[in-house]
Amino acid sequence: MVFEFIFGVALLLSAWLPAKSDGIPDGVLHMECRDRYFMMAVGLSFSGEEPHFEAVDETGVYPITEQYAAECGYSVSVLPLQGHVELRASYFSCHTDNKDDKVFTFNFNLMANHFGQEATFTLNKTCSPSLPWSPREVTCEVNYMEVSVRSEVTCPSGTKKDDWDAVKTAHSSTTSDWQVMFQRAKEQSIPTNLSEAHKHGYVFDLTDGRLVFRTPYGQPDSFSTEVNGVPVELVHATLFSRQSWVVLMVDLVAACSMYEGSYDENGYMMWKTPEVLHPLLSGLHNTQVNIGVNGEFLEQPVAEERGYIVEKHNGTVQLSIPYNADGGYRKSCVTEDLYEFHVFNLYLEQILVDEDHVQTRLRLHRTWATPLLPHPVFTHNQTVNEEHMFSVYLGDVPDDVELAAVHLNGHKFTVPFTNTSRHAITKVVHPNSTHGYTLKVPFDDPVVLQQFSKEDAAMQHKLDINYTLTVLPEKEPFYHFASVMAQSDVSPPEFDAVCLESGIRFRLDHRPFDYLWYISIGSDLLTSELAAQHGYIMSNNSQSLLLEVPLFTHGYEYKDITLKGFLGTFEILIRDHATSEVQSSTVKTCPFTATELIMCSTDGRMTVVADLSLAIPSGGIPARTNLMDKYCGPKEVDDTRALFSLPLNSCGSIVKLGKENVTYQNEIFYGFSKYLTVSKAASEDPTERVIVQCTYPLAGLHRLFSVYRFESDTVGVGRIIHTTQSTAGSQIPTIQPTTAPQTTPATTSPIRMPIAYLAAIHPPARYIKVSRIQNLHGLRKGAGGTSQTKANAAQI
Ligand SMILES: *[C@@H]1O[C@H](CO)[C@@H](O)[C@H](O)[C@H]1NC(C)=O
Ligand SMILES: *[C@@H]1O[C@H](CO)[C@@H](O)[C@H](O)[C@H]1NC(C)=O
Ligand SMILES: *[C@@H]1O[C@H](CO)[C@@H](O)[C@H](O)[C@H]1NC(C)=O
Ligand SMILES: *[C@@H]1O[C@H](CO)[C@@H](O)[C@H](O)[C@H]1NC(C)=O
Ligand SMILES: *[C@@H]1O[C@H](CO)[C@@H](O)[C@H](O)[C@H]1NC(C)=O
Ligand SMILES: *[C@@H]1O[C@H](CO)[C@@H](O)[C@H](O)[C@H]1NC(C)=O
Ligand SMILES: *[C@@H]1O[C@H](CO)[C@@H](O)[C@H](O)[C@H]1NC(C)=O
Ligand SMILES: *[C@@H]1O[C@H](CO)[C@@H](O)[C@H](O)[C@H]1NC(C)=O
Ligand SMILES: *[C@@H]1O[C@H](CO)[C@@H](O)[C@H](O)[C@H]1NC(C)=O
Repeated sequence: MVFEFIFGVALLLSAWLPAKSDGIPDGVLHMECRDRYFMMAVGLSFSGEEPHFEAVDETGVYPITEQYAAECGYSVSVLPLQGHVELRASYFSCHTDNKDDKVFTFNFNLMANHFGQEATFTLNKTCSPSLPWSPREVTCEVNYMEVSVRSEVTCPSGTKKDDWDAVKTAHSSTTSDWQVMFQRAKEQSIPTNLSEAHKHGYVFDLTDGRLVFRTPYGQPDSFSTEVNGVPVELVHATLFSRQSWVVLMVDLVAACSMYEGSYDENGYMMWKTPEVLHPLLSGLHNTQVNIGVNGEFLEQPVAEERGYIVEKHNGTVQLSIPYNADGGYRKSCVTEDLYEFHVFNLYLEQILVDEDHVQTRLRLHRTWATPLLPHPVFTHNQTVNEEHMFSVYLGDVPDDVELAAVHLNGHKFTVPFTNTSRHAITKVVHPNSTHGYTLKVPFDDPVVLQQFSKEDAAMQHKLDINYTLTVLPEKEPFYHFASVMAQSDVSPPEFDAVCLESGIRFRLDHRPFDYLWYISIGSDLLTSELAAQHGYIMSNNSQSLLLEVPLFTHGYEYKDITLKGFLGTFEILIRDHATSEVQSSTVKTCPFTATELIMCSTDGRMTVVADLSLAIPSGGIPARTNLMDKYCGPKEVDDTRALFSLPLNSCGSIVKLGKENVTYQNEIFYGFSKYLTVSKAASEDPTERVIVQCTYPLAGLHRLFSVYRFESDTVGVGRIIHTTQSTAGSQIPTIQPTTAPQTTPATTSPIRMPIAYLAAIHPPARYIKVSRIQNLHGLRKGAGGTSQTKANAAQI
């Protein structure tokens, strides 16, 4: 038996004015023919957030509203993640021109709100689906169900009893017009004519070869049921027409799985549909399932490679997709922290073949989103202490999130940093659609908090980083906080030193942790009292310490003494506060010149540069001078000066023993004039005697008489005494230091000889004998000869 349906469609011919189109830029509009529908995609940036569409045919222009779309076979979806708005129009949609179910033409208007300007574009698309129509096709669109059946079908082999109820109603109908009855469970609605049904949102249409029925979801005549544990929405319409004694009748069933999808612990999104949605849509044994996304099916190997799984369980087809599989779209969003969700535009096809080998294709569009999933970003401390720089990596930042600013210990820096800042940020892009940022901040950057750790004797650097990240395109901010610490060993302070003409200047810039150390000159703590005592010029404020040490003050060492000049070395020691151990030192050696100088070394050598201009007769030369021992001549001379270097107790020196100190004294004579001829020489030209002395405290010479070597704990105090000839003689000479030579602050300054230098010129060790004769000399000639001294000498 063959049923044939003929629908007369009154074509209301009405003229419509084509809207104006200035043309759409390339790449903005994309129109495609899909198996069962037109697909139009318009870039959101062009169309604006809320574009409108109008369907156009010979009868007029029909705005595609939400309600109208569901009734007439249109679906409009704004897909911000893909960046476009999509219009899908069923080939059987109300205003599509259909030629023999083979060529479909859709005319429509796009009204875009382009830069605040409403613009209308007139568009059309013609498609010829390559896939032949199956006898029965069901489409579960997002907003409607559509079923189309071939209008010429073979009579089903079995007729169930229930069906006759409908036939009875149909048979009692008094009109030959097509009527529709909706069946809900065992109930039937009152038959209505098709125009009345259309008013309720149901559309019936007869094309060249197919009967089409479309209904929005949630209609009063639909019913929700559960099949194999899956919610299903179902509309069962029975169309009939009584033509005299013959009743023509057709059952149209639209049924779609309304399963909302679930998300499991393992990161899979799961969706299911019953294998058999309704007895009228039953398949034999195996239903074939094709899976796709975004309206296109995937080849099975591709689907497998992406991790899509299709399984059949307990009469349901189950579909599982890893939440982050290809084919989906992800979006970041912020609710305090960063979350993400993934959206799949699922496209599924079930192909069923019933006992009569009638094929049913069921296609389903579902937009399917994961719940909000936390997407934590992380920070990794990549600091290497030796680089003296924090390096912190912020990772797993999704593509649609960018770093806007960082607060470093509360100081805000927007990204990108300006070139002037010392910290830097670099972006690292990964192939897995995430990126990261490496932040580098030197330990000594002003934003870094420095704190000194006494236990570790190290500097602790602390950096709190508050990242401000924004989710694009809405620019929604969220924050990620990280705190990093690092330690760097601190080095003892180091002075800067410069040579002056008359001394050395040291400078030290204070650092917050410098209290770990103290500064000493030799073994003495440097204080303002010590500085005053030794004649150092010290100034100290919160920023820096300035210390100027004039030449010949305490603490200098001298070497390379010639008449032209010498080297003076001053050393500042940095000692650990706790242990007093020397941690570092600043040693500065500078060249100096002086008219006269004397030094008395710890190992018993006197080195003298003396000005002899008044001690030699006119016409005489310093080369002809000698010491008390006439065979001790100068080592070096110039026009007025001579340099002598002698072991203390040689060259006829006399030793004067005091209560607390011992003095070695010698005198410079001209032309072999030993003291025996002094009076004679005195009557001649020279007007001055030059006496040289080294005085050592006895306390420091405790080994003087036990070892055959001169060893003093301290350098001796040297003096060059220029006295007038007239006051010389057997009396105690009035020691009257002459006015100091301009470069020499004091001719009687203590001078220390560096031991290392002296080693080279050290005379062989000698027994030092303090003899009565020498003492007598001392008493006769010396400056400090007292009865006290004599008593001491006697005791020895
Ligand atoms: C369809 O669009 C093309 C341009 O894409 C145009 O040339 C043609 O005239 C249009 N047809 C109708 C019927 O509007
Ligand atoms: C359809 O039925 C309604 C009421 O049931 C009636 O008013 C209307 O005229 C009918 N339309 C046609 C075309 O028969
Ligand atoms: C199939 O159904 C049985 C009984 O209802 C149930 O125990 C089983 O877990 C189901 N299997 C699946 C994979 O859902
Ligand atoms: C920063 O410096 C680099 C090279 O030194 C230069 O190419 C870049 O333009 C500068 N950026 C800014 C913002 O000044
Ligand atoms: C992306 O790749 C980077 C570098 O291989 C890795 O550190 C990060 O954990 C990855 N992120 C995700 C979400 O897989
Ligand atoms: C980071 O900065 C934001 C905004 O300035 C603030 O609301 C948030 O409390 C900060 N986070 C931390 C841990 O300091
Ligand atoms: C970061 O790295 C540095 C250097 O490796 C290390 O000293 C520090 O303990 C680390 N941890 C934190 C929280 O800063
Ligand atoms: C110099 O001043 C600083 C602080 O003003 C103080 O800590 C330091 O001890 C002073 N140094 C000396 C040698 O007086
Ligand atoms: C030597 O000792 C005496 C006291 O015994 C003292 O007055 C004198 O200043 C000392 N000489 C030197 C150079 O220290």
